[in-house]
Amino acid sequence: PIYLIQDRLVPKEEVRVSPDDRGYYFGDGIYEVFRVYGGKLFEAEAHFKRLERTAAAVRIDLPAASSELKKQLEQLIAANSLIEGTVYLQITRGTTPRAHAFPAQAEPVLMAYTTEVKRPVHMMQQGIAVVTMEDIRWLRCDLKTLNLLPNTLAKQHALDRGADDVVLHRSGLVTECSASNVMIVKQGAVITHPADNLILHGITRAVALRLARELGIPVAETPFTLDDLRQADEAFVTGTTIEVTPVISVDGLPVATGNPGPVTRRLQQAFEQAIA
Ligand code: PDD
Repeated sequence: PIYLIQDRLVPKEEVRVSPDDRGYYFGDGIYEVFRVYGGKLFEAEAHFKRLERTAAAVRIDLPAASSELKKQLEQLIAANSLIEGTVYLQITRGTTPRAHAFPAQAEPVLMAYTTEVKRPVHMMQQGIAVVTMEDIRWLRCDLKTLNLLPNTLAKQHALDRGADDVVLHRSGLVTECSASNVMIVKQGAVITHPADNLILHGITRAVALRLARELGIPVAETPFTLDDLRQADEAFVTGTTIEVTPVISVDGLPVATGNPGPVTRRLQQAFEQAIA
Protein backbone atom coordinates (compact mmCIF):
# COMPACT_ATOMS: atom_id res chain seq x y z
CA PRO A 1 0.00 0.00 0.00
CA ILE A 2 1.02 3.57 -0.74
CA TYR A 3 0.58 6.24 1.94
CA LEU A 4 0.42 10.00 1.68
CA ILE A 5 2.83 11.55 4.20
CA GLN A 6 2.77 15.34 4.13
CA ASP A 7 2.67 15.88 0.36
CA ARG A 8 4.61 12.75 -0.66
CA LEU A 9 3.43 9.31 -1.74
CA VAL A 10 5.49 6.62 0.01
CA PRO A 11 5.22 2.84 0.46
CA LYS A 12 3.83 1.90 3.89
CA GLU A 13 7.11 0.15 4.86
CA GLU A 14 8.91 3.47 4.54
CA VAL A 15 6.51 5.47 6.70
CA ARG A 16 8.19 6.73 9.88
CA VAL A 17 6.21 8.26 12.71
CA SER A 18 7.85 9.91 15.69
CA PRO A 19 6.99 8.78 19.25
CA ASP A 20 6.79 12.51 19.97
CA ASP A 21 3.85 13.00 17.62
CA ARG A 22 1.17 14.80 19.65
CA GLY A 23 -1.36 12.43 18.20
CA TYR A 24 0.08 9.72 20.47
CA TYR A 25 0.35 11.83 23.58
CA PHE A 26 -2.88 13.75 23.47
CA GLY A 27 -4.96 12.55 20.54
CA ASP A 28 -4.07 16.06 19.42
CA GLY A 29 -5.22 15.83 15.84
CA ILE A 30 -8.14 15.75 13.46
CA TYR A 31 -9.33 13.36 10.77
CA GLU A 32 -11.78 12.58 8.01
CA VAL A 33 -13.00 9.32 6.49
CA PHE A 34 -13.97 9.73 2.84
CA ARG A 35 -15.94 7.19 0.80
CA VAL A 36 -14.67 6.27 -2.63
CA TYR A 37 -17.16 4.97 -5.19
CA GLY A 38 -15.99 4.12 -8.70
CA GLY A 39 -12.55 5.52 -7.94
CA LYS A 40 -13.97 8.95 -7.01
CA LEU A 41 -14.25 10.76 -3.68
CA PHE A 42 -17.91 10.96 -2.61
CA GLU A 43 -19.04 14.38 -1.26
CA ALA A 44 -15.44 15.61 -1.20
CA GLU A 45 -16.38 19.28 -0.75
CA ALA A 46 -18.51 18.57 2.31
CA HIS A 47 -15.71 16.52 3.91
CA PHE A 48 -13.14 19.27 3.28
CA LYS A 49 -15.49 21.91 4.64
CA ARG A 50 -15.87 19.87 7.83
CA LEU A 51 -12.10 19.33 8.00
CA GLU A 52 -11.49 23.08 7.67
CA ARG A 53 -14.07 23.80 10.37
CA THR A 54 -12.54 21.28 12.78
CA ALA A 55 -9.00 22.50 12.03
CA ALA A 56 -9.98 26.09 12.76
CA ALA A 57 -11.78 25.14 15.98
CA VAL A 58 -8.78 23.23 17.39
CA ARG A 59 -6.28 25.69 15.90
CA ILE A 60 -4.37 23.30 13.65
CA ASP A 61 -3.10 24.82 10.41
CA LEU A 62 -3.91 22.59 7.46
CA PRO A 63 -0.67 21.88 5.55
CA ALA A 64 -2.30 22.92 2.26
CA ALA A 65 -5.53 24.36 0.89
CA SER A 66 -8.43 21.92 0.52
CA SER A 67 -8.21 22.09 -3.27
CA GLU A 68 -4.57 20.99 -3.06
CA LEU A 69 -5.32 18.29 -0.45
CA LYS A 70 -8.07 16.96 -2.70
CA LYS A 71 -5.62 16.59 -5.59
CA GLN A 72 -3.20 14.76 -3.31
CA LEU A 73 -5.93 12.35 -2.16
CA GLU A 74 -6.86 11.72 -5.80
CA GLN A 75 -3.23 10.85 -6.50
CA LEU A 76 -3.26 8.55 -3.47
CA ILE A 77 -6.39 6.81 -4.77
CA ALA A 78 -4.78 6.38 -8.20
CA ALA A 79 -1.49 5.13 -6.72
CA ASN A 80 -3.42 2.42 -4.85
CA SER A 81 -5.76 1.65 -7.78
CA LEU A 82 -8.68 2.05 -5.37
CA ILE A 83 -12.15 1.68 -6.88
CA GLU A 84 -14.42 0.94 -3.86
CA GLY A 85 -13.31 1.88 -0.38
CA THR A 86 -12.32 4.63 1.97
CA VAL A 87 -9.61 7.22 2.39
CA TYR A 88 -8.49 7.93 5.94
CA LEU A 89 -6.86 11.34 6.41
CA GLN A 90 -5.43 12.59 9.69
CA ILE A 91 -3.48 15.66 10.65
CA THR A 92 -1.84 15.97 14.06
CA ARG A 93 -0.58 19.20 15.58
CA GLY A 94 3.03 18.07 15.17
CA THR A 95 6.02 16.47 16.84
CA THR A 96 7.67 17.78 20.02
CA PRO A 97 8.58 16.34 23.45
CA ARG A 98 5.46 15.99 25.59
CA ALA A 99 4.09 19.27 26.91
CA HIS A 100 0.48 20.42 26.99
CA ALA A 101 1.20 23.86 25.57
CA PHE A 102 1.08 24.15 21.80
CA PRO A 103 4.56 23.75 20.30
CA ALA A 104 6.05 27.01 19.06
CA GLN A 105 7.57 25.46 15.95
CA ALA A 106 6.11 22.05 15.15
CA GLU A 107 4.73 21.43 11.67
CA PRO A 108 1.41 19.57 11.47
CA VAL A 109 1.85 15.93 10.41
CA LEU A 110 -0.44 14.70 7.62
CA MET A 111 -1.00 11.00 6.98
CA ALA A 112 -3.50 9.36 4.62
CA TYR A 113 -4.09 5.90 3.24
CA THR A 114 -6.76 3.97 1.39
CA THR A 115 -8.66 0.81 2.32
CA GLU A 116 -10.67 -1.39 0.02
CA VAL A 117 -14.15 -1.64 1.49
CA LYS A 118 -17.17 -3.32 -0.01
CA ARG A 119 -20.60 -1.85 0.57
CA PRO A 120 -22.15 -3.54 3.67
CA VAL A 121 -24.91 -5.12 1.62
CA HIS A 122 -25.92 -7.72 4.21
CA MET A 123 -26.30 -5.18 7.02
CA MET A 124 -28.13 -2.74 4.77
CA GLN A 125 -30.61 -5.50 3.86
CA GLN A 126 -31.05 -7.15 7.27
CA GLY A 127 -30.59 -4.17 9.59
CA ILE A 128 -28.63 -3.94 12.83
CA ALA A 129 -29.25 -4.38 16.55
CA VAL A 130 -28.35 -1.55 18.91
CA VAL A 131 -28.09 -1.11 22.65
CA THR A 132 -28.49 2.23 24.41
CA MET A 133 -25.83 3.90 26.51
CA GLU A 134 -25.26 7.23 28.22
CA ASP A 135 -23.26 9.63 26.07
CA ILE A 136 -20.29 10.58 28.27
CA ARG A 137 -18.36 12.55 25.67
CA TRP A 138 -17.31 16.19 25.82
CA LEU A 139 -19.44 19.07 24.53
CA ARG A 140 -17.75 19.46 21.12
CA CYS A 141 -18.85 16.24 19.45
CA ASP A 142 -19.23 18.28 16.25
CA LEU A 143 -15.43 18.30 15.90
CA LYS A 144 -13.85 15.32 14.15
CA THR A 145 -10.85 14.85 16.43
CA LEU A 146 -8.69 11.81 17.21
CA ASN A 147 -10.03 11.66 20.78
CA LEU A 148 -12.23 8.62 20.22
CA LEU A 149 -11.83 6.68 23.48
CA PRO A 150 -15.51 7.14 24.44
CA ASN A 151 -16.51 5.97 20.96
CA THR A 152 -14.32 2.86 21.10
CA LEU A 153 -15.61 2.02 24.60
CA ALA A 154 -19.16 2.47 23.34
CA LYS A 155 -18.65 0.26 20.29
CA GLN A 156 -17.10 -2.49 22.41
CA HIS A 157 -19.96 -2.17 24.93
CA ALA A 158 -22.34 -3.03 22.08
CA LEU A 159 -20.25 -5.91 20.72
CA ASP A 160 -19.85 -7.41 24.21
CA ARG A 161 -23.65 -7.56 24.40
CA GLY A 162 -24.08 -9.20 21.02
CA ALA A 163 -25.29 -5.97 19.39
CA ASP A 164 -23.84 -4.13 16.41
CA ASP A 165 -23.64 -0.61 17.81
CA VAL A 166 -24.79 1.74 20.56
CA VAL A 167 -27.28 4.53 20.44
CA LEU A 168 -25.94 7.22 22.75
CA HIS A 169 -28.18 9.52 24.78
CA ARG A 170 -27.74 12.44 27.14
CA SER A 171 -30.23 12.05 30.01
CA GLY A 172 -32.64 10.28 27.68
CA LEU A 173 -32.18 12.50 24.61
CA VAL A 174 -30.72 10.51 21.72
CA THR A 175 -27.57 11.97 20.15
CA GLU A 176 -25.87 9.53 17.76
CA CYS A 177 -24.05 6.18 17.53
CA SER A 178 -20.37 5.31 18.03
CA ALA A 179 -19.47 6.19 14.42
CA SER A 180 -22.76 7.07 12.73
CA ASN A 181 -25.82 9.28 13.10
CA VAL A 182 -29.25 7.91 13.99
CA MET A 183 -32.72 8.83 12.77
CA ILE A 184 -36.24 7.62 13.50
CA VAL A 185 -39.42 7.67 11.46
CA LYS A 186 -42.64 8.70 13.17
CA GLN A 187 -45.92 9.08 11.27
CA GLY A 188 -44.02 9.29 8.01
CA ALA A 189 -41.57 11.99 9.14
CA VAL A 190 -37.83 11.55 9.58
CA ILE A 191 -36.57 12.87 12.93
CA THR A 192 -32.93 13.34 13.91
CA HIS A 193 -30.89 15.31 16.45
CA PRO A 194 -30.08 18.84 15.24
CA ALA A 195 -26.58 19.49 13.93
CA ASP A 196 -25.32 21.28 17.04
CA ASN A 197 -22.32 20.69 19.34
CA LEU A 198 -23.59 17.33 20.61
CA ILE A 199 -23.25 15.30 17.40
CA LEU A 200 -20.94 14.96 14.46
CA HIS A 201 -22.46 16.70 11.46
CA GLY A 202 -22.39 13.58 9.35
CA ILE A 203 -21.97 13.92 5.61
CA THR A 204 -24.21 10.90 5.10
CA ARG A 205 -26.73 12.44 7.50
CA ALA A 206 -26.85 15.56 5.30
CA VAL A 207 -27.21 13.47 2.13
CA ALA A 208 -30.01 11.39 3.68
CA LEU A 209 -31.90 14.51 4.82
CA ARG A 210 -31.49 16.10 1.38
CA LEU A 211 -32.81 12.94 -0.31
CA ALA A 212 -35.73 12.78 2.13
CA ARG A 213 -36.68 16.39 1.32
CA GLU A 214 -36.40 15.68 -2.41
CA LEU A 215 -38.74 12.71 -1.95
CA GLY A 216 -41.24 14.92 -0.12
CA ILE A 217 -40.68 13.11 3.18
CA PRO A 218 -41.09 15.55 6.09
CA VAL A 219 -37.86 16.09 8.06
CA ALA A 220 -37.50 17.38 11.62
CA GLU A 221 -34.07 18.15 13.03
CA THR A 222 -35.12 18.06 16.63
CA PRO A 223 -34.05 16.02 19.67
CA PHE A 224 -36.01 12.83 20.38
CA THR A 225 -36.05 10.58 23.44
CA LEU A 226 -35.16 6.96 24.09
CA ASP A 227 -38.90 6.30 24.37
CA ASP A 228 -39.42 7.87 20.93
CA LEU A 229 -36.76 5.48 19.62
CA ARG A 230 -38.34 2.46 21.27
CA GLN A 231 -41.78 3.39 19.93
CA ALA A 232 -40.59 4.53 16.50
CA ASP A 233 -42.17 3.23 13.31
CA GLU A 234 -38.68 2.87 11.87
CA ALA A 235 -35.11 3.66 12.82
CA PHE A 236 -31.92 3.79 10.80
CA VAL A 237 -28.32 4.95 11.00
CA THR A 238 -26.23 6.90 8.49
CA GLY A 239 -22.48 6.94 8.01
CA THR A 240 -19.70 6.92 5.47
CA THR A 241 -19.22 3.15 5.39
CA ILE A 242 -22.61 2.05 6.72
CA GLU A 243 -24.55 4.35 4.29
CA VAL A 244 -28.25 4.09 5.26
CA THR A 245 -28.76 0.99 7.43
CA PRO A 246 -31.97 0.00 9.23
CA VAL A 247 -32.04 -0.47 13.01
CA ILE A 248 -34.27 -3.45 13.75
CA SER A 249 -33.89 -3.78 17.51
CA VAL A 250 -33.09 -1.61 20.53
CA ASP A 251 -31.86 -3.25 23.76
CA GLY A 252 -33.15 -6.59 22.51
CA LEU A 253 -36.67 -5.37 21.66
CA PRO A 254 -37.82 -5.06 18.04
CA VAL A 255 -38.37 -1.65 16.43
CA ALA A 256 -42.01 -1.85 15.28
CA THR A 257 -42.25 -5.24 13.50
CA GLY A 258 -38.51 -5.81 13.70
CA ASN A 259 -38.15 -5.41 9.94
CA PRO A 260 -36.68 -2.53 7.92
CA GLY A 261 -39.45 -0.01 7.19
CA PRO A 262 -40.69 1.56 3.95
CA VAL A 263 -39.25 5.06 4.49
CA THR A 264 -35.84 3.55 5.25
CA ARG A 265 -36.09 1.46 2.09
CA ARG A 266 -36.98 4.50 -0.03
CA LEU A 267 -34.00 6.42 1.35
CA GLN A 268 -31.73 3.45 0.71
CA GLN A 269 -32.91 3.34 -2.92
CA ALA A 270 -32.40 7.08 -3.32
CA PHE A 271 -28.93 6.80 -1.78
CA GLU A 272 -28.08 3.99 -4.18
CA GLN A 273 -28.98 6.32 -7.07
CA ALA A 274 -26.99 9.20 -5.55
CA ILE A 275 -23.77 7.17 -5.51
CA ALA A 276 -24.21 5.55 -8.94
N1 PDD B 1 -17.31 8.13 11.61
N2 PDD B 1 -20.99 10.28 14.23
C1 PDD B 1 -19.75 9.92 14.59
C2 PDD B 1 -19.38 9.98 16.04
C3 PDD B 1 -18.82 9.51 13.62
O1 PDD B 1 -17.58 9.18 13.99
C4 PDD B 1 -19.22 9.45 12.26
C5 PDD B 1 -18.28 9.04 11.17
C6 PDD B 1 -20.54 9.82 11.93
C7 PDD B 1 -21.06 9.78 10.52
O2 PDD B 1 -20.48 10.81 9.75
P1 PDD B 1 -20.28 10.65 8.17
O3 PDD B 1 -21.61 10.40 7.55
O4 PDD B 1 -19.71 11.94 7.77
O5 PDD B 1 -19.34 9.48 8.00
C8 PDD B 1 -21.40 10.24 12.94
C9 PDD B 1 -16.22 7.76 10.71
C10 PDD B 1 -16.68 7.01 9.50
C11 PDD B 1 -15.18 7.02 11.51
O6 PDD B 1 -14.83 7.53 12.56
O7 PDD B 1 -14.69 5.98 11.08
